[in-house]
Amino acid sequence: MELEKSPLPPSIGGAIALLFFEPSTRTRMSFEAAAYRVGLGPMVFDGGHRTSLEKGESVEDSILNVAAMQPKILVVRCGDELNLKKLSESLDVPVVNAGWGVVGHPTQALLDVMTLQKSFANLEGLRILFVGDIAHSRVAASHFELLPKLGVQHKVCAPDEFLNKVNAERVSSLTEGLQWADAVVALRVQFERHNQNLSFSSKEYQKAYCINQNHLRMFPELRVLHPGPINQNLEIESEVLKAKNSLVYEQVKNGVYIREAILRAYLGGGS
Ligand code: CP
Repeated sequence: MELEKSPLPPSIGGAIALLFFEPSTRTRMSFEAAAYRVGLGPMVFDGGHRTSLEKGESVEDSILNVAAMQPKILVVRCGDELNLKKLSESLDVPVVNAGWGVVGHPTQALLDVMTLQKSFANLEGLRILFVGDIAHSRVAASHFELLPKLGVQHKVCAPDEFLNKVNAERVSSLTEGLQWADAVVALRVQFERHNQNLSFSSKEYQKAYCINQNHLRMFPELRVLHPGPINQNLEIESEVLKAKNSLVYEQVKNGVYIREAILRAYLGGGS
């Protein structure tokens, strides 16, 4: 008996593996959205629950096993304990860093720059203030690598314990920094990465470092960014997120475009 011809169209896409060993909403879902936009089917590994990590398989072995399934691209979010760069060099499939410990989060820096570029006519000479848990921020690490290449200046504003080993010019107060800046990037206080108790209370932090409506009245042209997730009313006042100064949801939108462009670049389709 002759087999009927398949009613399905020929396969054109292939798969992309999204391997997230740390929590994510924006990065994982925007890579997923980007995958659909370029015709790749996402294979999603979302945390350790109900995966073989629960049986003791290592993060590295999990990645090697998924790579053996031959997705066209691997997108990985993981902690510092894995040497993602070394592992990626041993694989014949492209690996995209979707947030690696405190080392870097390059696609976030790129989408932030895209957001700034859409908001300001020219990036050259632009002044960006970073406020928050800079020492633990992979977003800040990637920005400090990228911004000087684009002629963008940056300064930082944070308590001492958030500036450990940070090599950047520091301002003495948030008001001084905002007066200098064209845009402020607030960063999340990463409570989960602090082994010891912090030397200040949430209330003290909020008073000194939270971007509030009064700042927008003082500096009406200021643009406000945050990579998310946000501790609202600690890093940015909720009302500020609704103001025209806030580019936070624009960042999320641009995240899909940047990640789509990255996938297209790997697939050879241009951007
Ligand atoms: N900005 C960012 O990386 O957010 P997620 O942790 O939700 O992906």
